[in-house]
Amino acid sequence: MLEVHGGTPLRGTVRVRGAKNLVSKAMVASLLGDSPSVLRGVPRIRDVEVVTGLLEVHGVTVTSAPDAGYPDGELILDPADVAQGSIVDIDAHAGSSRIPILFCGPLLHRLGQAFIPDLGGCRIGDRPIDFHLDVLRRFGATVDKTPGGIKLEAPQRLRGAKVELPYPSVGTTEQVLLTAVRAEGITELKNAAIEPEIMDLIAVLQKMGAIITVDTDRVIRIEGVDSLSGYVHRALPDRIETGSWASAALATGGEIFVEGANQPDMITFLNVFRKIGGAFEVCETGIRFCHPGGELKSSVLETDVHPGFMTDWQQPLVVALTQASGVSIIHETVYENRFGFTDALNRMGARIQLYRECLGGTPCRFGRQNYQHSAVVSGPTTLHGADIEVPDLRGGFSHLIAALAADGTSRVGGIELINRGYEDFLDKLAGLGARVDMA
Ligand code: EPU
Repeated sequence: MLEVHGGTPLRGTVRVRGAKNLVSKAMVASLLGDSPSVLRGVPRIRDVEVVTGLLEVHGVTVTSAPDAGYPDGELILDPADVAQGSIVDIDAHAGSSRIPILFCGPLLHRLGQAFIPDLGGCRIGDRPIDFHLDVLRRFGATVDKTPGGIKLEAPQRLRGAKVELPYPSVGTTEQVLLTAVRAEGITELKNAAIEPEIMDLIAVLQKMGAIITVDTDRVIRIEGVDSLSGYVHRALPDRIETGSWASAALATGGEIFVEGANQPDMITFLNVFRKIGGAFEVCETGIRFCHPGGELKSSVLETDVHPGFMTDWQQPLVVALTQASGVSIIHETVYENRFGFTDALNRMGARIQLYRECLGGTPCRFGRQNYQHSAVVSGPTTLHGADIEVPDLRGGFSHLIAALAADGTSRVGGIELINRGYEDFLDKLAGLGARVDMA
């Protein structure tokens, strides 16, 4: 349980390292190489521990850089002895992560089989894996659902395929990339996701020897090759963590320099941040975010796949919008159930109403169904301390921001979930002058 004494503007510097949502995939990509890979900028977060455990279960040796201080966040991944892990071990290591599904392609190439336990991940929607299984079948894999998980086999070498995704899913695009690079022949993927983390994964695979072309119309073409080597790569910075700290600066009326933040990946966020009255300065080593004083302005926004406003920025920004004057409207089009965290905000004094209708320019997949995927935030409202239980990774961080912006003391339970994606967040908070104690 964390006790948060709110009302103090956060001021100071935090450093962001490699993006969680690239690092985990780049670690999986090491399975495809004939030689060791070196990944730099790896944050110490729970999701990295989970993938490390899963790789080790499959015979990959994972070591941190020899200078044990881990200053560069360097991991060396040696896939020399890849072997099928036991189902019990895989299950034990998978924890609540969705990453195991991305082991399929590489393991099918290396071993001809793979086993995927029932998957977890944040409770922000149904999060099915139907697209993943469909594309794996298209490459020639057989898929058997068993009570404990899914067993896949490749009776012969996987073959390139023509695939069109029903929705530009990040994970399924990565699935196709990690499978197609060593499949026989050409793969054409239409309606692909083109998030910066996917471009960085393509850079990793190209370093390994893959041939991948990205067209302008969400089409990615991959020419399969017979073998790949290891890579040396520095992960792109975490744009979700950057947006989270930026929102924390705005909600608490403070100023945070996010060292390592990369402007090109933040363009959409920065536009919204500026429109609602936040100020920022792009420096050579990072971005400084602050509340410049005066009123924040309400806004209308829709989450979307890249280059739209990313869904993972939505939750922390909603906390800042509770402090803006007027009515803000947010239409969540990526996940059907990503506003659960607003219950706690309302208990703290926010005025947020949820709607099933698409309150945005683009009708989305969730319209006219039973999903409360639009939110109307009326502000500004004074937030008050409350007892809160963290619901998921981004929602949890957003609750922390709300508690820090609130009058009085909040007791926040379940903060271990936040370790999944925010490195050293308690130390970072202390460094920013937050008054937090473990109770
Ligand atoms: N979808 C399906 N079927 C599938 C796969 C996806 O219907 O087989 C749907 C999902 O239910 C969702 C939408 O497609 O409604 C988009 O899901 P996507 O596959 O793009 O998401 P993901 O790969 O599971 C990654 C990140 C998420 C991030 C999303 C969107 C990782 C490990 N996770 O998830 O990050 O929100 O892309 O950008 O990369 C987080 O970091 O907190 C997080 C949730």
